[in-house]
Amino acid sequence: MAQSNFGSRLGMILATAGSAVGLGNIWRFPTTTGENGGAAFILVYILFTLFLGLPGMLSEFIVGRNGGGNSIYSYSKAGGNRLWGLTGVMGMICSAMILGFYSVVAGWCLYYLYQALTDNVLGDKAFMASEFNALIGNVWITAGISVLFILLTHAIVVRGVQQGIEKASKAMMPLLFILMLILICAACSLPGAADGITFLFRPDFSKLNATVLFEAIGQSFFSLSLGTACLCTYGAYFPRDTNLVKSSFQIAGIDCGVAIMAGLMIFPAAFAVGIQPDAGPSLIFQTLPNVFRQAFTHSVAYVISIIFFALLSLAALTSTISMHEIGTSMISEERHISRTKAAWVVTIVCSIIGVLSAISMGPRPIGFFGKTLFDNFDGLTSNILLPLGAFVTSLLVGWRMPQEAIINELTSNGRYRLPAKAFALFLFLVRFFVPACILVIILSRFNIL
Ligand code: TRP
Repeated sequence: MAQSNFGSRLGMILATAGSAVGLGNIWRFPTTTGENGGAAFILVYILFTLFLGLPGMLSEFIVGRNGGGNSIYSYSKAGGNRLWGLTGVMGMICSAMILGFYSVVAGWCLYYLYQALTDNVLGDKAFMASEFNALIGNVWITAGISVLFILLTHAIVVRGVQQGIEKASKAMMPLLFILMLILICAACSLPGAADGITFLFRPDFSKLNATVLFEAIGQSFFSLSLGTACLCTYGAYFPRDTNLVKSSFQIAGIDCGVAIMAGLMIFPAAFAVGIQPDAGPSLIFQTLPNVFRQAFTHSVAYVISIIFFALLSLAALTSTISMHEIGTSMISEERHISRTKAAWVVTIVCSIIGVLSAISMGPRPIGFFGKTLFDNFDGLTSNILLPLGAFVTSLLVGWRMPQEAIINELTSNGRYRLPAKAFALFLFLVRFFVPACILVIILSRFNIL
């Protein structure tokens, strides 16, 4: 199958890390950590990333590079028949839903970036709350900017793997690190910041319970972009000599590192002005600007707020690109149509999901089970489809795919050494440990356990 590749090692790592690093790290991670007691949660999160996330990621890379095509093609090839390709279809549907609701939050970031530029985000608590509620209530704006964000993603994806995705990631990821470092330095230099750092690094194990464990697994999967064929799609673009094992460690390392960095910029600042870290999802859009206002002089707070919302928008964009690419590559290859046409199909479908999600949070809520559609899409993907995708992938690699093909991928056709013990550990994890853990999560979501 004719395929494009990432042009350089750095480009490949940055593009894949760009997919992983997103609102999941900067928005969801600090929020979940705050709500679940800080350091103990982080420790569990890192353990899950090591023993569940990493083997899961590696499995998707193996399927992807072995296949070398879109995810339907790669899953069918790895499993030996077209039925396995359904995993790719499910991944595409799941990522289209994620792109839909994710673009709503990404749109808020873009809106707040504009507000920060026009010096409109540095009000007190009541002002910030009323501003946020006004934004959510105005479905024309929220729906409009979510579509705008998808169009922005579209503009990058249509340019192709090297000229679009890789180039954009190479420009945006270093900028993202720099912006983040500036914010961490500013936050940690505040008087009282030490309490936030303590919260982040001193574990209190009494806070751990089953819900926290599930939250940690869900967060780890979402953050690594696992279970939606996203890593499989990117894996197909990895050059033949890429060391998959090493790259997985690097990408997961960057992902965890950025999540902890996000904690290092948010908690010290919040503690410095005496704001509780468990403020929930409003933390980023209501609490933080208020923290900036109290902690710094107006002109510094102005610059910091711009940097912060620029950072969020950038992180979101490198992730939405990857969600878009799954569908674009699949539709263009499977239907034999141009990339541009395929990208438009994805853009239109995801825009509809985005608009519906935005409307569902407005004055006339729509949705199922007493929740908004936005929450429905989030819940269905994070709690069920994503773990299911990872479950099927680990079964495929653990039990079905020829071991020779797996070893070929892990060693890049004999280029790299693979100690027998490491391979045995990997097989044990993907055969038993990963599927068992995921099964427990899915069943618990249905309240069966
Ligand atoms: N990992 C991204 C984040 O942390 C989100 C993301 C990108 C994603 N692609 C994905 C999540 C595919 C699930 C599946 O924000």
